[in-house]
Amino acid sequence: MAEVFFEQMTADQRHGHHAALSVISDGRSASDVIAAALMHDIGKRHARLGVIGRSVTSILMLLRLPLTRRMLLYGDHGEIGARELTRMGAPSLAIEFALHHQSERPQTIESQTWEILISADQAPKARASDVV
Ligand SMILES: [Fe+2]
Repeated sequence: MAEVFFEQMTADQRHGHHAALSVISDGRSASDVIAAALMHDIGKRHARLGVIGRSVTSILMLLRLPLTRRMLLYGDHGEIGARELTRMGAPSLAIEFALHHQSERPQTIESQTWEILISADQAPKARASDVV
């Protein structure tokens, strides 16, 4: 899993790292919770979009306008990441959180754990200065 983590853009690595630190500071040290925080956005790396591309994608998605292939990959990053985590044998919590972190809590994730992970996902995200 480490190789995939380091294939991410630096800003996404930083975001995952901050998310992992956030769950630890919330008192969660179980490896599945930390893995869920650390790896939830690995699917984004396939889109190879920088901050501006991601922002444009988000706007186009809100407006329900046509997207490029890379934008579609970005939009599907949760599902893509969940499939990869499944192939890697990641903990079920990491798979489920990657799959659902942009939508509603699935019944497979206990509500307190979900809140901690969602809060951790608010940790610093990509900044324009992080992407070259
Ligand atoms: Fe995230």
